[in-house]
Amino acid sequence: MEFSLQQDASQLDTAASVILPLAKVAEGNDTLTTDSLKIADKLLNGAISHAIASGDLSSKFKTSQLFLNTGAGPDRILVIGTGAADELSGRKYRQLIQSAWSHISANPGPRVLNQLTTVDTKNLDLQSKVRLTVEAMVQACYRFDQFKTTTKEVPPSPHMALVADTSAQAQLNQSVATAQAMNLCRDLGNLPGNICTPSFLAEQGHKLAAGSNKVTTQVLEEAEMETLGMHSLLSVGKGSAEPSKLIVINYQGGEQGVQPHVLVGKGITFDSGGISIKPGAAMDEMKYDMCGAASVIGAMQAVIDIDLKANVVAIVASAENMPSSTASKPGDIYTTMSGKTVEVLNTDAEGRLVLCDALTYAERFNPKTVVDVATLTGACIIALGHHTSAVLSNDDEFAVSLMAAGKQAFDNVWQLPMGEEYQEQLDSNFADLGNIGGRAAGTITAACFLSRFTESFTWAHLDIAGTAWTSGAKKGSTGRCVPLLVQHLVNQA
Ligand code: BES
Ligand code: MN
Ligand code: ZN
Repeated sequence: MEFSLQQDASQLDTAASVILPLAKVAEGNDTLTTDSLKIADKLLNGAISHAIASGDLSSKFKTSQLFLNTGAGPDRILVIGTGAADELSGRKYRQLIQSAWSHISANPGPRVLNQLTTVDTKNLDLQSKVRLTVEAMVQACYRFDQFKTTTKEVPPSPHMALVADTSAQAQLNQSVATAQAMNLCRDLGNLPGNICTPSFLAEQGHKLAAGSNKVTTQVLEEAEMETLGMHSLLSVGKGSAEPSKLIVINYQGGEQGVQPHVLVGKGITFDSGGISIKPGAAMDEMKYDMCGAASVIGAMQAVIDIDLKANVVAIVASAENMPSSTASKPGDIYTTMSGKTVEVLNTDAEGRLVLCDALTYAERFNPKTVVDVATLTGACIIALGHHTSAVLSNDDEFAVSLMAAGKQAFDNVWQLPMGEEYQEQLDSNFADLGNIGGRAAGTITAACFLSRFTESFTWAHLDIAGTAWTSGAKKGSTGRCVPLLVQHLVNQA
């Protein structure tokens, strides 16, 4: 779907379908509150005011009526109740957009004029409404049916104009780039593990470079990683026939020599658990264990699309975690690129094993900040559920700035503590540290493990285990935390 801004709300005849908000002014006293509603009512010979008077239409949240117009002007006018405008949260606004679209999606015509951006809300500014509209619309149109041999026919998506003045243009551009990046992230996540392998992710890195002269992509093969001493990362793929890859995507949008912001993504393209094998139930969902990588690759695409004036490096640590006679075993000890040794007490705690070497590799870019993104711990789902991602950092101010970016992007993250008292849980009898910290505070001890490799820079870790995909009938990748990453980079630039 393509988007543009239209300044004049009263010009209804630019579109085939128009979406008009009906806001609540006083209890049980609904009236035509906007000029657009009055104009539409005239076009429809009073049908809107009649529907309100008869009780068929009201300002109640998501109550709606679709009016077909046989005369001059748009063919369809959807009037939808917004409830009390000051009660609209970002979440409810998104629902409103989705609900409005559901009533016209079957036959919207070539152009839709969406006036929901004109609703007066206490909590949402114009920028937020533009963002939420674009992201919700692109999500509503998202399909992943490339493996269905019989696909449902989807009508061509219309152009959508949002009512807003030119002050929203930059936000529109960022939102469109973000929404498309979320779709890339969703696609990569939803692809099965037999297709989306480490080599496939490396191809995505090359693709980004092919499409932009500001991007160079370098893929480190196992032999090069061996030379660098990345034995921890390499240990994870030892049981797999798929070669592990370290994918480095370098975006030069700022001055040469300006410190880059680095993103690091966990790219386990299938996590069976390895020798510490997982139970069978829902194991298919471990194809989503590369969603950190997918969100980082998505964020890079958005950075390219919005032509961000900053230097950004993405590092994807990718491997497949499988059991076999060549796989690493509980008790095995590996030397990381940093020189620290790790005792692998559980081969299912593999994410931190690939990330630690990628984080050490990040040092060579002299980063301004480093954010790693990973579906790292089941414990994160217990702590925060499926709505909020976790952020843990060696710099509280940086964690706060990420929470602010998340709030701005309606992609929430919440900080968990990382006090030194937790570090002891990683003590190993035989190596510098173990790769698990016991049942208690699993998300925190995982971050503590990573913190041993991030001492030389400002770093935050995002655990998206609970937010990266949904299970059940609507199983699928969500595209999170692309909005947060993009907003973080925009704010830093
Ligand atoms: N990829 C998983 C974490 C995960 C599990 C994410 C379920 C989303 C849903 C990770 O590699 C893992 O297996 N972590 C273990 C760590 C444990 C062995 C310390 C976990 O969370 O159980
Ligand atoms: Mn695992
Ligand atoms: Zn994993």
